[in-house]
Amino acid sequence: MSDDRLIVALDVHTRNDVKNLVLTLGETVSYYKVGMELFYSVGPDVVRWLKKEGKHVFLDLKLHDIPNTVAGGLTSLMTLGADIVNVHASGGYTMMKTAAERLHAAAAEQGIPCPKIIAITVLTSMNEEDWAKLGETEPIADHVTRLAKLTKAAGLDGVVASPREAASIRTACGDNFLIVTPGVRPAGASIDDQSRIATPGEALKNGATHLVVGRPIRAAEHPKEAALSILNEMATV
Ligand code: C5P
Repeated sequence: MSDDRLIVALDVHTRNDVKNLVLTLGETVSYYKVGMELFYSVGPDVVRWLKKEGKHVFLDLKLHDIPNTVAGGLTSLMTLGADIVNVHASGGYTMMKTAAERLHAAAAEQGIPCPKIIAITVLTSMNEEDWAKLGETEPIADHVTRLAKLTKAAGLDGVVASPREAASIRTACGDNFLIVTPGVRPAGASIDDQSRIATPGEALKNGATHLVVGRPIRAAEHPKEAALSILNEMATV
């Protein structure tokens, strides 16, 4: 049993840890997220290895720089074969639009599939207090929806947001838009450093297309059982 809507975050440091977790989860999990912690430790080969194992990969490097640099960075990453790559929406409309256009053009030129490009709205660890310290006055939820609309207008495929904001994003951006939600915690699980969380079932009901789950699976005593229990909950939605 696997479900492409579940993405397991590989927030580990070594190739061995990756292999152990991926082999432990086996056919249960088909989609993995490679973030900066792993990518900076072991380098790009881990993406190639996961693809060779037949897995889907969300390469979560959260690019945030001037338009030309982000477009160039994504074009370099594209050759690894990840299925989803991402940027920060707060980099602005021009940055996102340039990145999407350049990536699509590079993929067409090289004759390879273009990964989906999605944008981080507001990190799911952000709470209202930290938000206010940034000088922001708009509620986080409204800001997330504003960034989601901007992301769509710039020609990207979707956003990363908290499951609590998924419903308003779905209403604002329509059906054909990826909503990838970290901050997913089964009922009773530790919240860790996340703030704006929901259960797997709630996240899907709110309109999420993919759930990113890290510690509730990775740090569980029996990771495969933890993944299966989340998949069972997902299957009921
Ligand atoms: O362990 P946990 O389930 O909290 O892992 C969530 C993963 O999703 C982490 O890899 C984190 O970097 C990532 N993420 C997030 N919030 C975002 C974007 C990505 O938590 N807005």
